[in-house]
Amino acid sequence: MMDHFVVEGGEPLSGTITCSGAKNAALPLMAAALLTDGVTVLRNIPDLQDIRTMAMVLRVIGADVQFEDHVLTIDASHCNFQEAPYELVRKMRASFYVLGPLLARFGHARVSLPGGCALGPRPVDLHLKGMTKLGCDISIENGYAVAETSGMKGNKIRLDISSVGATGNIMMAACGAEGTTTIFNAACEPDIVDLADMLNAMGAEISGIGTNQIKIIGPRKLKPVEWTVIPDRIEAGTFMIAAAATGGRVTLEGCRPDHLQTVIDKLIEAGADVNIGKDRKSVTVNATNRRLHSVDLTTEAYPGFPTDLQAPWTVLMSIAKGDAIIIETIYPERFTHIPELIRLGAQISKTLNNIYIEGVDQLTAASVMCSDIRAGAGLVLAALAAKGSSKVLRIYHLDRGYDRMEDKLTALGADIRRVRE
Ligand code: UD1
Repeated sequence: MMDHFVVEGGEPLSGTITCSGAKNAALPLMAAALLTDGVTVLRNIPDLQDIRTMAMVLRVIGADVQFEDHVLTIDASHCNFQEAPYELVRKMRASFYVLGPLLARFGHARVSLPGGCALGPRPVDLHLKGMTKLGCDISIENGYAVAETSGMKGNKIRLDISSVGATGNIMMAACGAEGTTTIFNAACEPDIVDLADMLNAMGAEISGIGTNQIKIIGPRKLKPVEWTVIPDRIEAGTFMIAAAATGGRVTLEGCRPDHLQTVIDKLIEAGADVNIGKDRKSVTVNATNRRLHSVDLTTEAYPGFPTDLQAPWTVLMSIAKGDAIIIETIYPERFTHIPELIRLGAQISKTLNNIYIEGVDQLTAASVMCSDIRAGAGLVLAALAAKGSSKVLRIYHLDRGYDRMEDKLTALGADIRRVRE
């Protein structure tokens, strides 16, 4: 349970690996399976703790869920309990995605409020506001959102913040609402596009997909489908930045470079060579024999630079030539990796949601501790770049979000070993 990694750093990563399916696309697709009373098959599902947690949530609701060889089979025909318990939602906030589908199909749901996390406060007010606009009565009772409707009606919903989760949740609920729902300032992340595409394949009528204005016409009787989840752009981005941070050369296959344009642009700006394969499904990052230079960035909603790659980028800037400023606009408190990076010799100072990084020649090995998935990924990258033997503790956070991370790094020549405790 409390496994850790031992990393001998200082060697460039080199070679080719294949990307896994996208966690953040797979989780809402799993919730969408609740919208039908048949068997949904989801392929290219990453083998992760978060996927197993969502499978548990669906099982509590009464679905039969099998997970084998990256294929999920979800039989939602006998769902008889419209509730997501605190024990599961507190482990993974994305469990909250079941609210919309349960309301659309059953007209009532009781879903635990997620509470805070290492990224700082993460409210679900926009999800609840959206469901209310669709005609649901929602009250907070004993830490749970208790929602009820005698029939949802389409409406105009403007999100104050372009929330990924709220967009997906409201979109699924709206499939069961009578009439037209328009979501303004909707998220256009590829994960939301994948969800909308699958819902349409199931028989929904959604347009404006991939824009900030999504229209859903309902209600539609949805039927189960077989669906292949998109590749994980955050996993791909993590390995691309890892190649750059170790002065290596890495090819990623089975990815979607078009989902990574901002990351590619930033890597090129910092001095790496990035080549997209002819098939547009692979990308090579080459940073051999050079030290990259500093590049400022601001995290933004898609297609901006993703907050989920802020920690890896901070690591790259820690050893780049010059000073860099990173502004975190999505989660202004998402900086738990900074004190750990300072233990590895990074020179970073923080003011509000800005960090200032003075690039050093070399990080030095140390023991460090993960506090969330992406902060943890940053620490692994830092350990790979640092000279000497580092320990990365609490890697259960990494197991939530990276499919066999150490195997993929080993395939790229890294000296990384899991120690089981
Ligand atoms: C998803 C991703 C996460 C990523 C994040 C931003 C999943 C499972 N997780 O999280 O990895 O870091 O998008 O790209 O897909 N907000 C509110 N009220 C709400 C909802 C959100 O104020 O009701 C705020 C959040 O606190 C945050 C911002 O909106 O500041 C964006 O959050 P959101 O896009 O909802 O993130 P998640 O969907 O939770």
